[in-house]
Amino acid sequence: MNLDDIRARIPASRQYVYLNHAACAPLPVDVQAAQKEYVEERALHGDVVYEQWIEKTEATRRLVADFIGGHPEEIAFLKNTSEGINLVATMLPFAENDNVVTTDLEFPSNFLPWYDLQRKGVEFRVVKSRNHVLELADFEKAIDDNTRCVAVSHVEFATGFKNDITALSKLCSDHHAYFFVDPIQSMGALPFNVRETPMDFFSSACYKWLMSELGISIFYIKRDLIDHFHPSYIGWFSLKDYLDYEKFNREHPEITTTARKFECGNLNFYGVCTLHASLQFLNQFSSTWVEERVMNLAAHVIDAVSEKGFEVQTPSDHAGIVNFKVKNPGQVVEALKARNIIVSSRAGGIRVSAHFWNTCEEVDRLVEAVEDICC
Ligand SMILES: Cc1ncc(COP(=O)(O)O)c(C=O)c1O
Repeated sequence: MNLDDIRARIPASRQYVYLNHAACAPLPVDVQAAQKEYVEERALHGDVVYEQWIEKTEATRRLVADFIGGHPEEIAFLKNTSEGINLVATMLPFAENDNVVTTDLEFPSNFLPWYDLQRKGVEFRVVKSRNHVLELADFEKAIDDNTRCVAVSHVEFATGFKNDITALSKLCSDHHAYFFVDPIQSMGALPFNVRETPMDFFSSACYKWLMSELGISIFYIKRDLIDHFHPSYIGWFSLKDYLDYEKFNREHPEITTTARKFECGNLNFYGVCTLHASLQFLNQFSSTWVEERVMNLAAHVIDAVSEKGFEVQTPSDHAGIVNFKVKNPGQVVEALKARNIIVSSRAGGIRVSAHFWNTCEEVDRLVEAVEDICC
């Protein structure tokens, strides 16, 4: 499929210069078709097709596992990134003098659940960024043998700094600390692989670079850990034989040994069917090609706005997000929206997030419009 064919499958590309994947992606027609199919089935057949949704869920679990280099039994579907982070924070066992480490660049969802652990007497440590960069040396100072968990985003949401999760993974393992990653700003744009970069848990919703729906998220727990962690909340999906629930042993309920135990009850099957279609859509393209396009477009944004004299806030270690300073960014974003150019305002600047299907011409149209509005 060439770029024109790909763009023809993304109807938003006809109406907008859409450079806002770090907020919420538009959906490809293939994904929309899967949604229509689900909605129709749901309306016309009710419970008659329940087993199909269960089968689709297991097929989606396999697709996710392949996508991230993990195993299907390591994947649970939850409702959002925040839920998975809370699950980890509430499941972890803590001893006296334990601490948790996160950063001052995190989205609130990867800050508050760790902050709140202070109510259980856990020490809360925050690695401070310098000019939107988190230095490995500062993590080294913050992490010690009493660190129970280190929680970072793969890519930070506002200015797009990319953490060196391989180095952090090693640091955590040296100190026997659990490693949690929020990859919502990288998955679908950059390779994110739990085999190459070992981590204990991750949680990510799917509505950004994965080009899928809200209300469905991927929760990952490393295989060896599943038996060691008891769900914070539990329900019939936690049973080993959940579809045969009438027969479950009420004296000694048998809990599944897969991550499904964290799902608790019925899933957002609409979201699951959407995610299945989104992954099939993305799987048509090689991940290296997608990454190359995302990085080239980000480099093009950086060059084009720098040339016009705007200050780029995004550090050199970045992914798809580029942020540059303007006066009154909120007003500029609204003025751009009136011209059908869609970006966000973050960290006192304009956050641009182009995906692989965007073009350099679209970036140029954005930059021209910003110049026209601001100068
Ligand atoms: C890094 C990061 N984590 C999490 C979220 C959103 O979390 P949730 O899926 O719980 O809405 C965002 C949304 O912008 C984000 O940028």
